[in-house]
Amino acid sequence: MRYQGKNAVIIGGSHGMGLATARLLLEGGARVLITARNARNLEAARRELGEGLQTVCSDVSDMNDIGLLAGIVGQKLGRIDLLHFNAGIAELAPFEQVTEESYDRQFAVNTKGAFFTVQRLSPLLRDGGAIVVTSSVADEGGEPGMTVYSATKAALISLVSGFAAEFLPRGIRVNAVSPGFIDTPTAGVAGMSEEERRSFHEIGNAVTPMKRHGTAEEVARAVLFLAFEATYTTGTKLAVDGGLGQKISVPR
Ligand code: NAI
Repeated sequence: MRYQGKNAVIIGGSHGMGLATARLLLEGGARVLITARNARNLEAARRELGEGLQTVCSDVSDMNDIGLLAGIVGQKLGRIDLLHFNAGIAELAPFEQVTEESYDRQFAVNTKGAFFTVQRLSPLLRDGGAIVVTSSVADEGGEPGMTVYSATKAALISLVSGFAAEFLPRGIRVNAVSPGFIDTPTAGVAGMSEEERRSFHEIGNAVTPMKRHGTAEEVARAVLFLAFEATYTTGTKLAVDGGLGQKISVPR
């Protein structure tokens, strides 16, 4: 089995891309622990993937939770081969309506959460292991309504560069996946109505050069490539975006 003997932690793994990555790892024989903030979603994930999946309710925007998580992971898995920071929130709003609370919430989860999760859990990583974070096609460029979210993910890419340098002595590679429009239960955006979701979906298909959404599994495969196969790659990001963030012409 491909991942036999590997231990993986997925931060934000209760649905969407994180859950798809957990599934592939379990199928490959790995021991997997996922976290999320919502206990009900974690229970649903366990029902879906089976008792082999370990779950911990933990909020990445809470320093106390991050500290406790490090202890729990140490007890349940011991040393780990992959730390995948996938948690993220996007609160899209017209520029004039962005509140301080929303600004702080997005940075607390996407950026500060990533930094301190890596700081507190990395002592558990085996030398030669891997860290993979989930960024976004929005980590470059500008889009109305997404300014704060984009900034959180741009900062996350900067963290990846810093982490890659910090962990060189331990042979731990650090990379990012950068998804475009991916079909997940939330579409990566908090609080959209059904109608907004439908329209967001249509826009995604229209603006993506490949004219479709990606699947959570397509992102999961990229995460696992970076984690276990890309042995000469660190400090970079891999776009999984149907060409959306690339300089390619779309035939008319
Ligand atoms: P999602 O965006 O709904 O959430 C991913 C996970 O993050 C969930 O398991 C959730 O429990 C966890 N999470 C959120 N806040 C948390 C907190 N405070 N503490 C702990 N866990 C928390 O799921 P999706 O759509 O699969 O997105 C995964 C990642 O991909 C996110 O980082 C998102 O920003 C990013 N992304 C998503 C895109 C999409 O089209 N779905 C596009 C580009 C990036």
